[in-house]
Amino acid sequence: MSRIGVIGGSGLYEIQGLVIKEKKKITTPYGKPSGEYMIGELGNTEVVFLPRHGAHHNIPPHMINYRANIWGFKKLNVERVISVSAVGGIKKGLKPGDIVIGDRILDMTRTRKSTFYDGKEGVIHIDFAEPYCPEMRKMLLKAGKHAKVSLKNRGTYVAVEGPRLETASEIKAFGILGADVVGMTGMPEASLAREIEICYSAVLLVANYAAGITKNKLTVAEVMEAMKASTEKIKHLLKETFKLLPVERNCDCKDALKEAKI
Ligand code: HPA
Repeated sequence: MSRIGVIGGSGLYEIQGLVIKEKKKITTPYGKPSGEYMIGELGNTEVVFLPRHGAHHNIPPHMINYRANIWGFKKLNVERVISVSAVGGIKKGLKPGDIVIGDRILDMTRTRKSTFYDGKEGVIHIDFAEPYCPEMRKMLLKAGKHAKVSLKNRGTYVAVEGPRLETASEIKAFGILGADVVGMTGMPEASLAREIEICYSAVLLVANYAAGITKNKLTVAEVMEAMKASTEKIKHLLKETFKLLPVERNCDCKDALKEAKI
């Protein structure tokens, strides 16, 4: 049986239908993860679920211990992680409720602890040209068809520090740089996963129009409401994806360290 990790973002604090068999508190060399890892079964898949902001949403994006969260999955023998998160829509045509399977990342975070390799284990430069696992992306898109959940098959995610929302000018600039959606938690989560050879993919739920895209003021209630309205769709999508993912990995993520060491 394969073991898949899911990191839930705002509004996704549990997966319905997931029968929890065990809750694991993990300690890591990097400190504490966001909470206990919930281990359960869904169909033929063992799922390890972690709510990124804590079970009661008390950890803001810039205070999340991304290293501990990802390390914990590795410790639990998880080889693949699906991240679910709320994002603001930048690209023309994207609207709240749309789901994007991300394929590119623009990282604007600068203050976070973003690597497992500070020199003790040698100097590591992982390849990150394609930040999300291509095999997982393919299966997510296929799962969308099977589950009749409409998906946007690509999108560039710009990661910002937060916790404040962006200015209209920042969003305009990100759009010019090629960003389609904006969020506060996608980095360094994605690169940390790659650094320890975990496959990582992103299900990005557009919760609101990003700043300045419409004249309306952005509210947190709007973000939470959009997440709540889409959790059923996301759960169907995840269930179907679990069924489709092959047990053995056929991507390069599993060998990310092979040619990365100096
Ligand atoms: N900006 C940044 N992060 C977000 C947004 C946004 O508009 N919506 C949901 N997460």
